[in-house]
Amino acid sequence: MATAKAHTNIALVKYWGKKDQDLIIPQTDSLSMTLDEFYTTTRVNFDPALTADQVMVNDRPVTGDGLARITRFLDLVRQLSGRHQFARVDSHNHVPTAAGLASSASAFAALAGAASQAAGLHLSRRDLSRLARRGSGSATRSIYGGLVEWHRGHDDATSYAEPIMEKLDFGLEMLAIMINTDRKKISSRYGMQSSVISSPYYDSWKEVVANDMVTMKAAITARDIPTIGHTAEENALRMHALTLSADPGYTYFNSETLTAITAIHRLREQGISCYFTMDAGPNVKVIYDRRDRERIVDGLAATFDRDRLVVSPAGPGIEIWDENN
Ligand code: DP6
Repeated sequence: MATAKAHTNIALVKYWGKKDQDLIIPQTDSLSMTLDEFYTTTRVNFDPALTADQVMVNDRPVTGDGLARITRFLDLVRQLSGRHQFARVDSHNHVPTAAGLASSASAFAALAGAASQAAGLHLSRRDLSRLARRGSGSATRSIYGGLVEWHRGHDDATSYAEPIMEKLDFGLEMLAIMINTDRKKISSRYGMQSSVISSPYYDSWKEVVANDMVTMKAAITARDIPTIGHTAEENALRMHALTLSADPGYTYFNSETLTAITAIHRLREQGISCYFTMDAGPNVKVIYDRRDRERIVDGLAATFDRDRLVVSPAGPGIEIWDENN
């Protein structure tokens, strides 16, 4: 039996497309910040008495496709460790409001940590990052704290993440604006594949990412938050241009997303340096220097309730507890 705690991460240079869908080898490198406020804790217990994997998330049983995805992942751990028992998995997503932002990144990173430890595998962080990748691409980066780079690699052995700066020594911070959606979400898994196959701009996206990785890493070295924010914002908008230009085209933006973007533009016009990024949903994350936090929260509170504004500094890497002894 083992428990792991992993934090989610938000990409500053996005992963949006796979080369190998089975091994989850991405088309491009990517770079993220791990967040302190959003995390998953997962306990895994391999039990000879079980006749199937049993999975609970937030005290509710997981069935159907969700269960199948977790069982496939556990099969991988069983294969690697030579164990045959089924597992009991108990997972909790710690998200400050009910509005969502539950993430497959923290979920599969925590599952990889707890399941591999419970199965007696003592993986290096690099190998843990490779294992987490098989559950969800973005989970590759959630093994580490701070700022993290995922090297796309070309096969299972070479596609892993590495920390760039595990403990931030400058004021980079994020704020999530929690935006509700009633519409059925298009999964990132489906959405990115449709972009790879059908967006005429996909090749340009690969060039954009190659350039943004260079700019972003130089900006991190220089602790240059305006360049980090500006590069992340342009990168996110270009990622979202892939969804609009896919066939069929679609968008993760909703009207509140545009309201949030307008509010951020307004703050910028007032001379406050803040930028935004977005993932496969309507929530907007603001990127800024923590010394501007109060002015940004006050400015956004004119449009959004304060309980929908969640500030998060950078968070730590995965923690694993072995509970066998
Ligand atoms: C927009 O990691 O959820 O958040 O590998 O298919 O599980 P799968 O996709 P996932 O995609 C994340 C996409 C993103 C950008 C990012 O995190 O880099």
